[in-house]
Amino acid sequence: MKKLYIETYGCQMNFSDSEIVAAIMTENNFETTSNIKESDVVFINTCSIRDNAEKRVMGRLKEMQSLRKQNPQLIIGVIGCMAERLKTQLLEEEKLGMRIDMVVGPDAYRDLPQLMIDVESGQKACNIILSKEETYADITPVKYSGNNVSAFISIMRGCENFCSYCVVPLTRGKERSRNPLTIISEARELFEKGYREITLLGQNVNSYNWDNGDVNFSKLLQEVAGISPLLRVRFATSHPKDISDELINVIASYNNICNAIHLPVQSGSTDVLRRMNRKYNREDYLERIQKIKSTISNCALSTDIIAGFCGETEEDHKETLSLMKEVGFDFAFMFKYSERPGTPAATKYKDDVPEKIKGRRLQEIIDLQQQLSLESNQNNIGKTFEVLVEGYSRKSKKQVSGRNSQNKVVVFEDKGYKPGDYVNVMITSCTAATLIGEGHSSNS
Ligand code: 5AD
Ligand code: SF4
Repeated sequence: MKKLYIETYGCQMNFSDSEIVAAIMTENNFETTSNIKESDVVFINTCSIRDNAEKRVMGRLKEMQSLRKQNPQLIIGVIGCMAERLKTQLLEEEKLGMRIDMVVGPDAYRDLPQLMIDVESGQKACNIILSKEETYADITPVKYSGNNVSAFISIMRGCENFCSYCVVPLTRGKERSRNPLTIISEARELFEKGYREITLLGQNVNSYNWDNGDVNFSKLLQEVAGISPLLRVRFATSHPKDISDELINVIASYNNICNAIHLPVQSGSTDVLRRMNRKYNREDYLERIQKIKSTISNCALSTDIIAGFCGETEEDHKETLSLMKEVGFDFAFMFKYSERPGTPAATKYKDDVPEKIKGRRLQEIIDLQQQLSLESNQNNIGKTFEVLVEGYSRKSKKQVSGRNSQNKVVVFEDKGYKPGDYVNVMITSCTAATLIGEGHSSNS
């Protein structure tokens, strides 16, 4: 058997795709390895979302070339979003200053075994055809890494929201939903294997739609939650324009649907949101947050924020800061705007906020979020949460680490707990990133 090493960058969807790739390859004479040095084939599953994500991958690909000194037969493949965006440019050895053997886009993974045959016969191989139907519905992902407690299930692919800054509609194509029966049976199998947490994944899960509305996201979520009360269910990502009252009520009414919603706001300014083509304004967003807060008790809220989008004024930036405070986000992913070739923003607007100002605004956003996260964690001191144990804490084998329903990392002394146990933990102290507590009873 030949050995395959996969390295993944970017979003959860990409990690989930790597498991599909592993499944396809292990059906075709390969086994996965976690040791790149012993591999016959290296796939790097890539992300195009920001320029620095692509630069990192390019740097890593350069480093990987040196592996050919030990193994001249080594095959290096670029898969995922950068493959889709840069296409055969990635095969131009002289221009690139390195050799890449295969370029395969996110909808062409079923073709990998055939492409591998082409490469093994000395050719370079490329398939970047996007599909309107492919969901890999029948493929059971191979979990070649991870904690055996929490898993991701991809429920749809592609995106048609066309946020003006975003490359995803170009790299992942049309939106399509996966057959719910295959999603539910995958979740049930994982539960039977001992997994206790499932995250349903899609670019915009709220627009999940099977059979012309026969199954919408709220219904799918209830079906998965119905597998067992011991199975926690999460989902990502929601689009603020599509998060319905129905969904919010479903989350509130199931104990095992986690009280944590990731709702990317991107900006607090209505003007900026309009240019971003987000299809909601500041007030709409805050109204949805109000609805969540008044319906789901103790619901964690997280978000994504972009600093320095085209035309963003100091006033717009202040509106982002004030919205962050008003919502009191528990957690945020925060980025500087990075122009992506071919996107509507790159065509229509000037990337006119100077780098220095983008950097300063981003830092202000990060500093504020740090304070909000700390406050949110401090408010948890003295409270007791049910924590799903994932494994030892990163710092010490005397402590275990897991998450509460709000998706916060909780660390506490190990009293013989196993991954997959539910433990009631009283929070005694915290940092901005972690809750620290004492375990009380195990009710796994
Ligand atoms: N520049 C900066 N951040 C971006 N994101 C998406 N496209 C860009 C871009 N061009 C961010 C958004 C999105 C998250 C996944 O990445 O905040 O929600
Ligand atoms: Fe990156 Fe977006 Fe592709 Fe995920 S879908 S890998 S975030 S570009």
